[in-house]
Amino acid sequence: QDRVFSGIQPSGGLTLGNYLGAMRRFVDWQDRGLKEGFETIFCMVDLHAITVWQDPAALRRQTRELAAAYIASGLDPEKSILFNQSQVPEHAQLAWIFNCVARMGWMQRMTQWKDKAGKNSQNASLGLFAYPALMAADILIYHATHVPVGEDQKQHVELTRDIAAKFNHDYGQDFFPLTEPVIEGTATRVMSLRDGTKKMSKSDPSDMARINLTDDADAIANKIRKARTDPEALPSEAEGLEGRAEARNLVTIYAALAGTDVDSVLRDFGGRQFSEFKPALGELAVEKLAPISTRMAQLMETPNEIDRIIGRGAEKAREIAEPILKDTYELVGMIRS
Ligand code: TYM
Repeated sequence: QDRVFSGIQPSGGLTLGNYLGAMRRFVDWQDRGLKEGFETIFCMVDLHAITVWQDPAALRRQTRELAAAYIASGLDPEKSILFNQSQVPEHAQLAWIFNCVARMGWMQRMTQWKDKAGKNSQNASLGLFAYPALMAADILIYHATHVPVGEDQKQHVELTRDIAAKFNHDYGQDFFPLTEPVIEGTATRVMSLRDGTKKMSKSDPSDMARINLTDDADAIANKIRKARTDPEALPSEAEGLEGRAEARNLVTIYAALAGTDVDSVLRDFGGRQFSEFKPALGELAVEKLAPISTRMAQLMETPNEIDRIIGRGAEKAREIAEPILKDTYELVGMIRS
């Protein structure tokens, strides 16, 4: 039985990368799930967020804002399960078991750990190190089979397979599915607007490097106008983007927003200068993103309603998670009386 799970950290503003690489694809999966009869489950991973310090009031606001962004992007709490990770304690419970299954060496190889902990890893939280085991628990507590993510999460989903395989081997049962990372679509890695070799990220010190889902039309147009490019005109074929990281990124963003591909964008804009392309991209971005930020702002006016929706989501999630945790405890040899 197929089941789709994915999550996003409420650890700051949401970027165009989160939208194109994740949220918008979640909506496609929701619709496919409805048609083909499988469940889709999307989470605000607040337990992951606190692996680096979060101000409590900001965490609460960002968690609601992420819920609002999910809904504003087209996720429907009647069609998908939308909830907050810490409201389903089974995630943390299964994560403990996975902490005992996963090996230190596996965690040490994670590039996100290496990037985030940096040279000063002695000062990183223990939670940051164990982060991927909690992520595996998020996925496997629902026996999810497909996990749509951006390129940067591939290694973590692959580790989830390793954890599932080792658990199944250690306890002699084909209990957890070997999950597939699903990395598809035009924009699986949206790059910084200031440096085409760096990922667009909510933690980039420069706000000009990213488009936030809460940016207004002027900010979006301005950031695209100021985006770094080279002096050449756009090529008429994709091969012409070779070695032109910034140009490739802007064309890719255009294609993803327009719902087409890079080749078709270049058929329209090949031979044109960035002075023509950037305003067109700015206009398209505003057209696609403004309705989302407007709807988000509306939803944020009634935080109690958001809390009610995600509370209900957590109940539905627990109905699936509880029996799977129970079976896991059983396999591990823990008394349930
Ligand atoms: P997070 O919160 O960093 O990002 C959420 C999702 O957005 C994608 N993404 C991007 N895609 C394309 N271009 C970009 N520049 C870009 N930046 C971010 C990410 O790939 C991700 O899909 N560990 C996860 C959250 C998580 C999770 C899970 C995901 C926790 N448990 C279980 C899937 C399943 C994370 O930090 O994502």
